[in-house]
Amino acid sequence: MSGAATNYEVCIAGTGSYVPERVLSNEDLAKSVDTSDEWIFTRTGIRERRIAAEGEFTSHMASKAARKALEQAGLEASEIKLIIVATITPDTLTPATACYVQQQLGAMNAVAFDISAACSGFLYAMKICKRLIADGAFENALIIGAEKLSAFVNWEDRSTCVLFGDGAGAAVLRRSLPGEGEILATEMGTDGNLTHLLNIPGGGSACPITSENVGTHLATLAMQGKEVFKHAVNRMKEAAETVIRRANLQAEDIACVIPHQANLRIIDAIAERLSVPEGRVFVNLDKYGNTSAAAVAIALDEAARSGAFKRGDNIVLVVFGAGLTWAAAAVRW
Ligand code: COA
Repeated sequence: MSGAATNYEVCIAGTGSYVPERVLSNEDLAKSVDTSDEWIFTRTGIRERRIAAEGEFTSHMASKAARKALEQAGLEASEIKLIIVATITPDTLTPATACYVQQQLGAMNAVAFDISAACSGFLYAMKICKRLIADGAFENALIIGAEKLSAFVNWEDRSTCVLFGDGAGAAVLRRSLPGEGEILATEMGTDGNLTHLLNIPGGGSACPITSENVGTHLATLAMQGKEVFKHAVNRMKEAAETVIRRANLQAEDIACVIPHQANLRIIDAIAERLSVPEGRVFVNLDKYGNTSAAAVAIALDEAARSGAFKRGDNIVLVVFGAGLTWAAAAVRW
């Protein structure tokens, strides 16, 4: 690490993603809870989600996504200096999932830690790493959003279990060379007055799981869906507008908006409010549901690899999650 006052530009040099093989469709879910493909699809836009295999942990998915990002960036794991895993479903409460990932990748020259910012975690990590690389503190960083939400869902609660899935997405950030892309602007925010709207109430120090409460689903996701919906639309719109303005762009300059993949109605509402030209919003939640911190990272990788935008294009990433938290980034690819 160096203390020199520098201001390097920072680019995304590679992306990768991984989803587990097992597909759980809306029809499959309708066999175990009182729901239907029609209800789930019309309210959310989700058709199916992926479920991690027995013995497949958050770190395993994270490492698989990371290897693809490293390969695209042309970097060896040993060259990575910093690993941040954004997750709310860590392998263990401690040590951090990033430590397991470091070991699995053999990235032994990296500092590794987790951040917990729910669905916003990947873009929180991006902002933190952009600053640390721009300052010259680290040469590069591997940021990963990875979740095994299937382990924290109450499979008897139809109002939540239909929404979530498992997966991981990763990106390698490094100093950009002349002519390369650049992370132009970032924004993040938090409203801790609204912690009660979306949380996992049990399993932490406030409410440990004991022999008395073990059957009560306290360690699973609880959500006030309608309230979350309202805040999500407003916060994501504001965050996206902020980075577009800071990057000196107009809505029509954006080749692709990559939003958090939670609900198609939320995505449509944001697209409308941002006045981004039609067809420029990337959606893959029909295949994966809401994978929290992984969602925007998987979407970024799939959008980039599918040619939704090209070198030199401007893209906007925008997310929202428990906390409440929100974040956005404008990137020249
Ligand atoms: N299948 C069938 N019916 C269901 C259901 C399901 N999976 N889940 C809930 N219902 C029922 C409810 O019990 C309720 O029935 P009632 O009217 O008889 O009481 C009815 O459907 C309407 O429920 P409601 O919760 O009002 O639906 P909604 O239109 O708000 O949609 C969400 C629910 C969760 C899809 C929606 O609120 C949402 O997407 N919110 C944002 C969630 C989100 O994105 N969170 C993550 C942010 S990171």
